[in-house]
Amino acid sequence: MSDKKPTHPDTKLVQSGRRKEWLRGMVNVPVSRTSTVLFESIEQMHAGYPPEDGRLSYGRNGTWTQWSLAEALTELEPGAAGTRLFPSGSAAVAIALTSVLSPGDELLMVDSAYGPTRLFCDRELKRLGISTRYYDPLATPEELAALLSDNTRAIFMESPGSLTFEVQNVPGICAMAKERGLTTLLDNTWATSFFFLAIEKGVDLSIVACTKYVSGHSDLMMGAVTAAPSHFERLSRTGRSFGQYVSPDDAYLAARGLRTLGVRLRQHELGAVKVAHWLKDQPQVALILHPAFDECPGHEHWRRDFSGSSGLFSFALKGGDEAARDRLVDSLELFGIGYSWGGFESLAVPADVDQLRTAARRQYPGPLVRLHIGLEDPDDLIADLATALADYPAS
Ligand SMILES: Cc1ncc(COP(=O)(O)O)c(C=O)c1O
Repeated sequence: MSDKKPTHPDTKLVQSGRRKEWLRGMVNVPVSRTSTVLFESIEQMHAGYPPEDGRLSYGRNGTWTQWSLAEALTELEPGAAGTRLFPSGSAAVAIALTSVLSPGDELLMVDSAYGPTRLFCDRELKRLGISTRYYDPLATPEELAALLSDNTRAIFMESPGSLTFEVQNVPGICAMAKERGLTTLLDNTWATSFFFLAIEKGVDLSIVACTKYVSGHSDLMMGAVTAAPSHFERLSRTGRSFGQYVSPDDAYLAARGLRTLGVRLRQHELGAVKVAHWLKDQPQVALILHPAFDECPGHEHWRRDFSGSSGLFSFALKGGDEAARDRLVDSLELFGIGYSWGGFESLAVPADVDQLRTAARRQYPGPLVRLHIGLEDPDDLIADLATALADYPAS
């Protein structure tokens, strides 16, 4: 590959991480499996330490297969110092938080965070003497500043929020945090750095569950944290200390997914916007919670900060109850019922959030359904939804 760094995201997706010495004549960086690395001499063995990406030392520290993926993810984020890979998105969240918090610290956590992220705070961080306070995802930077205590060390954002899709004012919150010496973390899984440049917007630690769009094929679990220069060393040290590692086979698959992230995301976007527009006109539907729709809370932040929208959104039904909503989801034929999202296939799940929120409970006109719009023809998905909605009780 040439030394001139590409600047456009699509070109970066194709070129990044493909160093000549790692490709060794092939198009893709091959899978290199190992635990032991053999050295020519003790001197060479010592030269492998301390471990760092690009220097063979021991299997847990990776080979070119993992380094190449990490480098490609870093290059997608202008201003980033590096990326660490983790065996799941949740592991990435847990280690990123652990890398910045110490006993006695307080964390401000967005109320619309992914459920297991909340559980990690409420159980594990609590056990370590770190307290968590939840805040409304629509809080302005000023409102958030008013919540800070002397012990607040970090602010965690997830934008848009899980299930309810509130879009946060990430640049505003980061600027406020920076003035006060606080660390900012963002779960950027919905947009990925293809649609939202987290580090450039001021985020210190940007987390992506590669399980979703980076992999894109619902066949692996992985997480990544991309860090600003101020936070990369500590993140790396914590990840290594906790023995975090991803297999070269998974890294290869994730890198293969990454090469087509741009075309897939744009196709997910087209399909999701089309389905959401159709849903908006249906008499059984009350509200579309899709960041690109002006009725979605925080839509103005999406319009200002994002370069696109992905395939995941929710809608609120008009009236009816959870049982009727569940029957509707059960009756869909082209949508799978299952956790996760970001693969090529469409999914539908009931989205019940009351139990998951403590700082900002919003009222919705009826039960919520979350859809992941895959790469099928949206007209087929619309026909499937039309059949299911026809049986939904009119309010
Ligand atoms: C927004 C978000 N963040 C993080 C995760 C965790 O990723 P993983 O399932 O790879 O642990 C998920 C999983 O659904 C998610 O939706």
